[in-house]
Parts: sequence; structure tokens; C-alpha cells
Amino acid sequence: MDKIRITGSASPKPLKGKIKISGAKNATLPLMAASLLTDQPIKFTNCPRLADVFTLEALLNHHGVESTFVKNTMTLTASTIKDHCAPYDLVRKMRASVLVLGPILAREGHAKVSLPGGCAIGTRPVDLHLMGLEKMGAIIEIDQGYIKAKAPQNGLQGAEIAFPTVSVGATENILMAATLAKGTTKLINAASEPEITDLANCLVKMGAKIEGIGTSTLIIEGVKKLSGAIHPIVADRIETGSYAIAAAMTGGELELVGTSLDLLPTFKETLEATGTMFTPTENGFIVKAPEGSIKSVDMKTAPFPGYPTDLQAQFMALMTLAEGSSNITETIFENRFMHVPELARMGADITLSGRTATVRGVNHLKGAEVMATDLRASVSLIMAGLCAEGETNVGRIYHLDRGYEDIENKLKACGGNIRRYRDGDTVKNDGSAKEYTG
Ligand code: UD1
Repeated sequence: MDKIRITGSASPKPLKGKIKISGAKNATLPLMAASLLTDQPIKFTNCPRLADVFTLEALLNHHGVESTFVKNTMTLTASTIKDHCAPYDLVRKMRASVLVLGPILAREGHAKVSLPGGCAIGTRPVDLHLMGLEKMGAIIEIDQGYIKAKAPQNGLQGAEIAFPTVSVGATENILMAATLAKGTTKLINAASEPEITDLANCLVKMGAKIEGIGTSTLIIEGVKKLSGAIHPIVADRIETGSYAIAAAMTGGELELVGTSLDLLPTFKETLEATGTMFTPTENGFIVKAPEGSIKSVDMKTAPFPGYPTDLQAQFMALMTLAEGSSNITETIFENRFMHVPELARMGADITLSGRTATVRGVNHLKGAEVMATDLRASVSLIMAGLCAEGETNVGRIYHLDRGYEDIENKLKACGGNIRRYRDGDTVKNDGSAKEYTG
């Protein structure tokens, strides 16, 4: 199994240089699912080459979608939907597969999608996706682990749907379904993450009628047919924030290009409170580590524009080296603290009480054998490794490959001592190790 080895130092080598931010994984996945809404080709540029994207491509191929994926351009053509069932084997690999439900149901009148099951960070039900589709007239039955959905004779009907809690995935699924429904759909308390805005903008290019884009109320007037489009995928704000934190932790200075601070309003304020400095540039921004010590700051995750849960683990890594103590509260997922024991193995001082972690800054971290527990947790361990004395070996990095394009090379180019290897390979101390690149 692949691992990542980071050779760090208690007085870390500052990361310096320029990093091109990739297209957002969490925008790419719903956009790819939107290709099911039309028989015309959709072309995405700035498409990240990530494991999750390949997983969804395989599922779409299974449904009959033709795909080409050359460098960072993907073209998807769903001339016909050949198979209406998303099987367990493909869906269990990635929860976002459930996003094919709304589009197939809206276009074809019926769909069968495996229930995704739980995941490491929480139970993550799909009740809100189903509630929304039922409000639009769908008859839904759960049978042997599958969601079986049928639209009424005349297709899905527009409806008023108020979400009791904000859900990114449910908003996306219902938004896509509503573009082809009869009449008007109003989504109240919808998620307003930049990835949803990107999806809505692409749907509009395809001929959808959507008002309120970027807000928590979306009004969709159904149309009969959608067409193809060409769409550049928005920058990955989570990758952006991850590298910004890496710069802050290592005392470095990075220019992040192809991205924008507008994607991360609360994150920016929170990092500024730690002493981290940001300077916008024409095509991104420069992030500079605090002068002197990192200040402790309390943080609470929240739906956009709040602090993103997907940047919680990375912020915790930063706080392990801050002066004083910080309370980090996770409000989105019930079990998203699995990186805590791993950071503790590296010498971090963290206590957990319910949904709040109290992090008391230490003078330095120490390298250790650690295990990635989920996608974002894995990157927090890499950052901690850059600032830890000695070697840190991170296992289960398939999590990392789901969401960070080319991370080793991006960090290496800025001075990070990081390499991928396969268990059993010999890694020499001088860094010239036999390296696994496959
Ligand atoms: C998306 C992101 C993920 C991010 C999360 C929150 C993608 C592919 N993934 O996940 O990286 O961490 O948003 O910003 O875009 N919930 C229900 N019932 C439902 C749906 C959700 O109770 O039907 C709950 C979830 O268990 C969770 C909360 O709502 O506690 C938010 O989940 P949601 O916004 O739906 O997350 P995802 O779309 O799965």
C-alpha cells in the first residue's frame, strides 16, 4: 500500500514559491452528474485528475455516458441513458455517486441508486435528497439497499422545498432535478457553497432558468430540454485553504494562483486572526506566515460563508503549534475528529469534549507513523509532518488521492521534503529513495 514520507524539522523549512490551484473536486462531481440531463456534449476545463473524478466517470460510463478525459479537459456525452441503476459496487466507493439520482429521474422518469452507506466522518444519511424528490411527486421506495425512484406520469413537478438543515448534496440533487421538472421549484435554506454556484452557472449555460444563484433561496423554472455547454471548473477552495495553512505553519510564503480569496471569506478572517497575512494578486493571492508566533484562535465550522468543515483538520494542525489554546467546534459532521489521536501521536496536546476539541499549542511536533482516516485528515497529517522533527510516515493515503491533485510535486516544488513510497520499498535517508510514482 502506498504511503507518504515527510522529513520535517522542529524549525521547519519555510514553504516558498508558487502553487497552481486545481479545479474543485466538489464542483466537478455534481457538474459531471449534470451531464446526464442532456443528450448534448458538455465540456469541462480545469477538471482535476483525482480518484473521485475517475470513480464518477466509471459510474457515468456504466449509465451509457461517453467520456474523454485529456489532461484537464473532460467531455461527457449522455446521448442515451442505457442503464438506470447505479450499483452498490460503484456507489460505495464514493458517496457523491448519489448525485446521479436527481438527473436520471428527471430525464428518464425512473432511477435506481444504491444507498451509499455510512462513512468515517458520520452516518451521512440521504433523507433530505429523498424528501425533496418526493415533494416533486416522486414515489420512492427503499428495497434491498437501493433507492428506487419513479416520477409521476407527466414527470417531476415543481414544488416548494424547505430544507430543515443545509445540505450541499441534497441542494445539488434537487437543483438538477428541478431544471427539467414541470413548473417552478423553490428551494429554501439551500446550501450556497461556491461549488453550488458553479453548478448553477453551468446549468444556466445549458439553458436552465435559475434565480437566486449564490443565495440560500433558489427558484428554478423547469424547461423541456437542456443543451450542451463548455464550462471551466471553479478553483478548489479547500485545496487553496490547505496550502495557505501549510504556508502559515512552516513560516513560509506562497503565491496561490488560479484561485480567489472570495471563495474563503471566514477562513481568511480566521487565518488573519492567527497573524497570517494575505495579499490579493491578479490571479490569486500571496499568503505569508505570521511574524513571530502563531496566535491561537477559536473556530467553529458552519455552512458557507462560514468556516468550511473540510478545512477543520488542517486548522487544527496549525493550532497545535500556536501560542495558547484554541477551541475548535465541528458543527457539520458528528465524527470528524479522527485526526485527533493521530496528531496526538505526533506530540499535539488536544482534548475532546463532544463536538469541541481544545488544542493547547506545543513548542514542536515529532515525526511518527500515522494513519490517514479521511480525505482532509490526511492532508493535516502531511502539514504536521512538515513541521515535525524527523520522519512522519502517513498510511492509507488513498484518501489523499481522492482530493488533492499532484500534492507531492506541488509541495516539493516549494521546498517540502515529501515522497510517496510503497510499503516494502527501501527509502534511503538522503531522500534519493526508490520512489513509487505509479
Ligand atoms: C459535501 C462535500 C463535503 C463537505 C460537505 C459539507 C461534496 C462531494 N462533498 O458533502 O466535502 O464536507 O458537503 O460542506 O461536495 N445530511 C442529512 N441528510 C441528508 C444529507 C445530509 O442529515 O440527506 C447531513 C449530513 O449527515 C451532514 C450535514 O447534513 O451532517 C451536511 O451534509 P451535506 O452538506 O449534505 O454534505 P455532502 O453533500 O455529503
